[in-house]
Amino acid sequence: MNQLRLFGVERLGREGWEAAAAAAGVPGGPFHVGETYPDEWMFALVMQASRASGLPVAVVLEEFGAFVAPALLRVYEPLVDPAWRTLDVLEHTERAIHTAVRARMPGAAPPALASRRVADDQVEIDYRSARRLCWVAKGIARGLAAGFGERIEIEEPECMHRGGERCLLRFRWLGRVEPGEGGAVGEAAIAGGVGSVRDGADGVELGDSDEVADVDAGAASGDPSDFWSGGA
Ligand code: HEM
Repeated sequence: MNQLRLFGVERLGREGWEAAAAAAGVPGGPFHVGETYPDEWMFALVMQASRASGLPVAVVLEEFGAFVAPALLRVYEPLVDPAWRTLDVLEHTERAIHTAVRARMPGAAPPALASRRVADDQVEIDYRSARRLCWVAKGIARGLAAGFGERIEIEEPECMHRGGERCLLRFRWLGRVEPGEGGAVGEAAIAGGVGSVRDGADGVELGDSDEVADVDAGAASGDPSDFWSGGA
């Protein structure tokens, strides 16, 4: 939650974030690591951030995923093999990272991800979670790729928001970002492992993703308890 607050303050400014929280009728933070907060707060804050920014909820969530990726890697660095790059992290997140998060952080409930390395350049993940936050998953993947200076393509042939019983996420490695290509994304490349991942993953362009634009996640019912009902 505190990462959501940092993200909101970065994008909306402190006053904008406070106003969004007030409109959502929930605290805007600060939130404390190790404490758990109701999912409804998170959904309400995201919904208001979407209204305030004019961006669809899907885009806000994906950008948040990209924003949080470097911090996740940094905080959990001991669990991440320094030789891993984007696809390796995606392949090993469940076994090496989410499992440890569940064991170490009471109350934290990262989703069960079933990952498969279907080819050298391709990883598939079955994502299942009542929260239905596949956009966050895609954003994390984009944030990882930006941090590692790599280009990836993401497809989602099945999605819980389109009636699927899971989200099937397919990640394909397209190569390294070449110098001069991709602007700030290239600058964010990691020279020597995850220790030097830059904060913020700025420069990551997420709003142009077709699959994000395709999904109407407006879900602006005003009632966080049926957050997704308007967009599902
Ligand atoms: C260094 C890597 C990672 C770390 C340390 C990490 C850790 C976490 C933590 C702490 C949460 C919050 C759980 C809670 O408070 O209940 C979370 C949630 C989540 N993670 Fe990860 N994660 C990592 C990588 C990934 C990757 C690669 C994906 C998918 C591509 C992913 C997908 C998600 C999603 C979608 C959520 C939202 C909660 C939900 O869907 O139920 N994570 N993760």
